[in-house]
Amino acid sequence: MNKTYVTTAIPYVNGVPHVGHAMDYCLADVYARYRRLAGDEVRFQAGVDEHGNKIYQKAEELGIPVETYVDGNTEKFKEFIAKLGASYTDFIRTTDEVHERRCQEIWRRLSDHIYKAKYEGWYCSGCERFVTQKECDDNGGICPDHQKPYEKLEEENYYLRISDFKDKIRVAIESDEMLILPEFRKKEMLKLLEESPDVSVSRSTEHLTWGVPVPGDNSQVMYVWIDALSNYITILGYPDEDISEWWPAAAQFVGKDILRFHAIIWPAMLMGLGLPLPKVMLSHGFILADGQKMSKSIGNVVDPIEVLERHGLDAFRYYFLRHADTFVDSDFTWEKFENAYNNELANDLGNLVQRLATLAKKNEIKLESEPEFKFDDEYVRLMDKFEFSKAFDYVWERVQDLNKRIDEEKPWSLAKNGEMKKLEKCLRGLIVDLLNVNYMLSPFIPDTTEKIFEVFADPITPPETPLFPKD
Ligand code: MSP
Repeated sequence: MNKTYVTTAIPYVNGVPHVGHAMDYCLADVYARYRRLAGDEVRFQAGVDEHGNKIYQKAEELGIPVETYVDGNTEKFKEFIAKLGASYTDFIRTTDEVHERRCQEIWRRLSDHIYKAKYEGWYCSGCERFVTQKECDDNGGICPDHQKPYEKLEEENYYLRISDFKDKIRVAIESDEMLILPEFRKKEMLKLLEESPDVSVSRSTEHLTWGVPVPGDNSQVMYVWIDALSNYITILGYPDEDISEWWPAAAQFVGKDILRFHAIIWPAMLMGLGLPLPKVMLSHGFILADGQKMSKSIGNVVDPIEVLERHGLDAFRYYFLRHADTFVDSDFTWEKFENAYNNELANDLGNLVQRLATLAKKNEIKLESEPEFKFDDEYVRLMDKFEFSKAFDYVWERVQDLNKRIDEEKPWSLAKNGEMKKLEKCLRGLIVDLLNVNYMLSPFIPDTTEKIFEVFADPITPPETPLFPKD
C-alpha cells in the first residue's frame, strides 16, 4: 500500500484560532481524504507551536505561568482542528518532552554546519524572524505585518551555515525535486535563497528562556523555528526510529508568509541530516476580510467558530475550499458566504438530492446493484496538481449538469404519462451519476456526502429535513 504523509503548519498558541488558520487543515484534509480514496495509507500531522518570545511575552502580560497559558490555548486549537473535520492521525505539541529531546539530537547531528558568532541586528518577535539592515531600513524600522518596531539584538548566537547547502537547495527547487506550488512562489523563493545569509538558530537565555535548550550550552535556547520545523519528523520518531516509510512527506501545507522558512531553512536542515526533501511544498494564499488583512487593531478578525456555527461544518469547508482559491489571497464576507450557502449548497445540491430521492421513492425505484465509483480524468488531473479549488469547481459543474438533465429529461412527466420503463431508466441514470459526483465531492464536504450516500442506500429515503436548511 502506498504510504502518504501530509503535514500542516503548527500555529503559535498566543491567541485563539482565527479563520485564516483553517486553510492549512482544510487543504491538507482534502488531500488526505483524496489519497485515502485512491487507496493510500495516510498519516496526517497537526499540532501546535508553543515556544518563542511572542508566546512567552503574552503569558507574562497576562500574568499567567507560560505552561498554563500554552496548555489552555492548545486545547482551543485542538478543538478547532477537530471542528474542521480534519482527519489528522498525529498531534504534536512542541513542549512534548520527547519532541524536545529529539530536537536536541537533531541539533547535535547538524553541529558540523553550526557555528557561534556575534549577532547584531534586528528581530521581529511577531514574525519570530531576524531581519536584515536593509529590510529594517526599507520598512522604516517597523514590521509592516505586526506594526511593531524591530528589536535591536546584540548577542552571541549559533548560526546554521545556509551557504553549505545553497547550491543543492537551488537545484532541488529548480528541478522540482521539492516542488514549490504555486509556480510564482517558486521564483520568489529562488531569489530569496540567493540573498539568504546564514541564519541565527539560537537565542541567548538572557533574552529568551522559553525554548528547547541548546545541547551542551546552557546559555542558549534554540530559535523557535528550528524547534518548530523539526516537528514534521520528530512526530514520526526521528531520530530514534527509521522514518523512511513515511518520509519524505508527499505534501506539506503552509501559508505564503512562512514559505521562506520551509523553502530555505527546512531544506538546509534536512540536507544536513541526510534526509530527502518533501515532494511538494504547497503555499496557500491568505484569507482577507472584505479585501483587507485581518487584524485585531482594525477589528475585522473573522471568528471561525461563528462561521462554523452559522450553517455547519460543510458550509464552512465549501466556502473556504471552493471560493477561496487554493493559491492566492481570497476574500471572506458574510454576504458571499450566505450567497454560496443559499444559491449553491442549498439550491444546486440540496434541492437536487431532495428532488431525485423524492421521485425515486414515489415511483419505487431501486438501484440494480451497488454502483462502482470512479474519479473523472479531469478531476484526477486537477487534484494531482493540487488545484483543489479548481477541482471543486469542476465537480460543482457536474452537479449543475445533473440539475439541467433533470429539467430536460422531466421524469415527472414520464411518471404522469405512465412511461414507467423510461422513468426507471432515467432516474437510475441520474442517481448513479449523482452518486459518482458525490464520491468526488467527498474529500471536500465529507459529512454531507455521507448523508447523501445514506439517502440513496436501499430503500431510497429522502432527507426528512433539507440538507441545507434556509433561515
Ligand atoms: N508557528 C508558525 C508555523 C510553524 S510551522 C513549522 C506560524 N504560526 S501562525 O499561527 O502564525 O500561522 C499558522 C498558519 O496559519 C500558517 O500556515 C499561516 O500562513 C496561516 N495563516 C495565518 N493567517 C492566515 C490568513 N489570514 N489566511 C490564511 N492563512 C493564514 O506561522
